[in-house]
Amino acid sequence: MKEISDFTIIERRQHGPHYFTLVLRHSHLTPLLPTMPGQFVEVRVDGQPGVMLRRPISVHDVDPEAGTLSLLVQVVGQGTRRLSQLAVGEKINLVYPLGHGFTSDLRSPTSALLVGGGAGIAPLLYLAKVLKARGVRCTILLGGRTAELIPVRDEFRPYGEVCIATDDGSLGHKGLVVSHPAFAEQYDIIYTCGPTPMMKAVARSAAERGIRCEVSLENMMACGVGACLCCVTDTDQGHRCVCKDGPVFDITNMKKWYAN
Ligand SMILES: Cc1cc2nc3c(=O)[nH]c(=O)nc-3n(C[C@H](O)[C@H](O)[C@H](O)COP(=O)(O)OP(=O)(O)OC[C@H]3O[C@@H](n4cnc5c(N)ncnc54)[C@H](O)[C@@H]3O)c2cc1C
Ligand code: FES
Repeated sequence: MKEISDFTIIERRQHGPHYFTLVLRHSHLTPLLPTMPGQFVEVRVDGQPGVMLRRPISVHDVDPEAGTLSLLVQVVGQGTRRLSQLAVGEKINLVYPLGHGFTSDLRSPTSALLVGGGAGIAPLLYLAKVLKARGVRCTILLGGRTAELIPVRDEFRPYGEVCIATDDGSLGHKGLVVSHPAFAEQYDIIYTCGPTPMMKAVARSAAERGIRCEVSLENMMACGVGACLCCVTDTDQGHRCVCKDGPVFDITNMKKWYAN
């Protein structure tokens, strides 16, 4: 089930110059629809005439008791800049929950590695929270060019061991996430979201080591519900809509995608 609803911004947090969090509550105080980690919303960008299409943004966190849903957004263009100007009390229109999320109903005890880069960190917080509640031991490996491009890293600490890799060595391990010592350890499953080259490197390594792996793709999207076909990706089983069949895919059928 999906719905189109107005939400009210009840909190706004800025994380340096590039990222911000919006905490949202249903404007009609309707209970939130069940939302799985890795699912996303399509945000209508009002007041910006150049931005026609809704923007896909991952569900960053859900608090069912408080009835809130959070989005972590990186400012990259007109749409996200406009969203960054919204203040507490203003309304935002969402279509949600969309897509097929991460597999989070693992039987414990299980170990999981969550690898995030850039705005791809966003869906991993709610995933870590759900996995921890299920007794899964999580290692959370976050990467970015510099420390300031790895926002909200402290929010992950209650849910597992947090490891950081930066290209310039400004925080944690110097180098790519796949060169971090934590990446070489054995896990039952690896989840990843971030820049495509990073996810492909993670997927290739997981495949070589026989570790189950799920990737969350961030293809350009328009409708978000499988109608326009603008988000298709080539898989071993043919073309798939990232918005409807994904954004999360098990790499078992993604050799074509990660091999190149
Ligand atoms: C499933 C999914 C989940 C996402 N989750 C997040 C998230 O949690 N936080 C976050 O900050 N970003 C997320 N993104 C990326 C986000 O959708 C884009 O950064 C945003 O749409 C850019 O809009 P803009 O108007 O600011 O930029 P634009 O000026 O339109 O474009 C700037 C760049 O953003 C990318 N982009 C633009 N439009 C889209 C689009 N409709 N779909 C995908 N990419 C686009 C392109 O690479 C483009 O070059 C997600 C994308 C997808 C597909
Ligand atoms: S965005 Fe329209 S089919 Fe995926």
